[in-house]
Amino acid sequence: MTEAGGPHGEPEGAAGQPDGPVGAGEAWQQGELELTGRIVSASNATFLAQLGDRAVVYKPASGERPLWDFPDGDLANREAAAYLVSQSFGWNIVPRTWLRGGPLGEGMVQLWQEIDPEQDAVDLVPAGDVPEAGWRHVFDGYDEDDHPIALVHEDSAELRRMAVFDIVVNNADRKGNHILAMPDGHRYGVDHGLTFHEEHKLRTVLWGWVGEPLLPAELEGVERVRRDLGGPLGSRLAGMITDRELRALGRRCERLLARAVFPAPHGQMPSMPWPLF
Ligand SMILES: Nc1ncnc2c1ncn2[C@@H]1O[C@H](COP(=O)(O)OP(=O)(O)OP(=O)(O)O)[C@@H](O)[C@H]1O
Ligand SMILES: [Mg+2]
Repeated sequence: MTEAGGPHGEPEGAAGQPDGPVGAGEAWQQGELELTGRIVSASNATFLAQLGDRAVVYKPASGERPLWDFPDGDLANREAAAYLVSQSFGWNIVPRTWLRGGPLGEGMVQLWQEIDPEQDAVDLVPAGDVPEAGWRHVFDGYDEDDHPIALVHEDSAELRRMAVFDIVVNNADRKGNHILAMPDGHRYGVDHGLTFHEEHKLRTVLWGWVGEPLLPAELEGVERVRRDLGGPLGSRLAGMITDRELRALGRRCERLLARAVFPAPHGQMPSMPWPLF
């Protein structure tokens, strides 16, 4: 690990890319994790902590609330696995995330990112007010006062790539608040505990490109993941998700490469997370 800051504050590896998995000998694996706060909106035990000079999110596995549709006790593994897949894409979607012990036991740690509170990648607007340019319309509904509203999200390269990432990892929880708007326009995705299920579970607010072709660079990203699954990425993931989930991940890559368009919602389950934010 070097001291140098990356474009979004994370340390960079030798190749100028954010570092990959945090190795056993690294300071971030060994240093003391000091709890500084708790994220109260979170439904699981999610803490803010300090690790050396970095603020991090710490989610101990012991604080996970059981879920009917995901196996218990491994949301932390799925978060760390999602980071590894994000690394393979090469788009810096997930802040550096790794597994380690802490004051409340084993869990996941993720670098905290200072967002720009003035920017929203996803928004609810009055139904007649959908901006013409730069935004995608997802659906219309009514707010609590019965006013017609529309859910919109940015039409940006960053969000498109996040949508591609979500399709590949089968993200069941892409809420508006799981997209961090950084001051420089970068968008990070967080909260990837509900990923990699072998059954179709894609629940997201990013449905603005349904039926549109993926760009060559987006297909290249999917191809990188597909290829990396046959190497060290696949070996690492094998310890974090089940064999069936790993095979399903490969199949999702192949299907997306073959069809090369943003898929439409399908299946019996809701295609939107709730709440939306
Ligand atoms: N790495 C991060 N940097 C900055 N903010 C973050 C980071 N991770 C999470 N957050 C913020 O904290 C909120 C709660 O985190 P997260 O969604 O991961 O926790 P959770 O326990 O799954 O919560 P919930 O059940 O409410 O979704 C996020 O919506 C986001 O606003
Ligand atoms: Mg959350």
